Amino acid sequence: MGGSFFCYKLEKRHWNHNIFILNEEEEKMKIIMLGAPGAGKGTQAKKIAGKYGIPHISTGDIFRANIKGGTELGMRAKSYMDQGQLVPDDVTIGMLLDRISEADCQNGYVLDGFPRTIPQAESLTEALAKRGEKMDFAVDVDVPDEAIVTRMGGRRACLKCGATYHVAFNPPKTEGVCDNCQDNLVLREDDKPETVQKRLSVYHDQTQPLIEYYKGQGILVTVDGTKELNQVFQDIVAVLEA
Ligand code: AP5
Repeated sequence: MGGSFFCYKLEKRHWNHNIFILNEEEEKMKIIMLGAPGAGKGTQAKKIAGKYGIPHISTGDIFRANIKGGTELGMRAKSYMDQGQLVPDDVTIGMLLDRISEADCQNGYVLDGFPRTIPQAESLTEALAKRGEKMDFAVDVDVPDEAIVTRMGGRRACLKCGATYHVAFNPPKTEGVCDNCQDNLVLREDDKPETVQKRLSVYHDQTQPLIEYYKGQGILVTVDGTKELNQVFQDIVAVLEA
């Protein structure tokens, strides 16, 4: 798969020069994180982005930032998110395609929460094909529904910088305070148990079919997301650098 060479060069440059400048002819690293709500996509996407120096793009974080900022997009998204529904494709696809056209995406990116429907995936494939590009990896973080419900109740989120924690499995240094930006941590509105059940059902119905879609493209890799989170990360890195 396309990303291994890039990883090797990136690692080498980090070690040798402590800075990273990518030549135009070198490959990009474009990764999709798949998995149920709460499977750990965001947790792993941030670690991947940090390791390889590429942006972490979370459609959920973009919507939450817009909700916090009181924008029109935020108000529209909130009405769906609070009910555990997907924000309509006509809003989401254009927003994501604009984001991956920005300058910081020139060396690749990790997509977290997009695509979530077959039309979103097809739009992404088409948009990339027009630029002569394709995704390198779709990483499915596999966690059964029973484990998801426990995780969501303990998750605490920073709505300012997008960091996520878990009261038991990944606690912040100071209870209720974000390590990165010192903002207060909150239980997300959509992490209430009844909304989590709805999100899981939407996931199985609309998002799980993407596993077959990306298997068909030959870029699907599956990791066991029930392991300890650093072990999950090591498993992902092993696949990306194989
Ligand atoms: P979004 O923010 O994308 O939510 P999600 O997919 O439901 O994913 P989560 O952020 O809830 O979970 P995650 O998999 O990132 O898990 P995390 O790493 O936090 O989307 C929210 C909403 O926005 C959607 O419902 C929808 O309405 C809308 N939306 C977004 N994108 C859209 C799109 N493309 N189209 C339409 N609508 C869209 O981990 C969960 C918890 O578990 C954390 O507390 C973490 O610390 C802990 N944890 C992680 N890994 C482990 C581990 N290995 N062991 C133990 N604990 C762990």
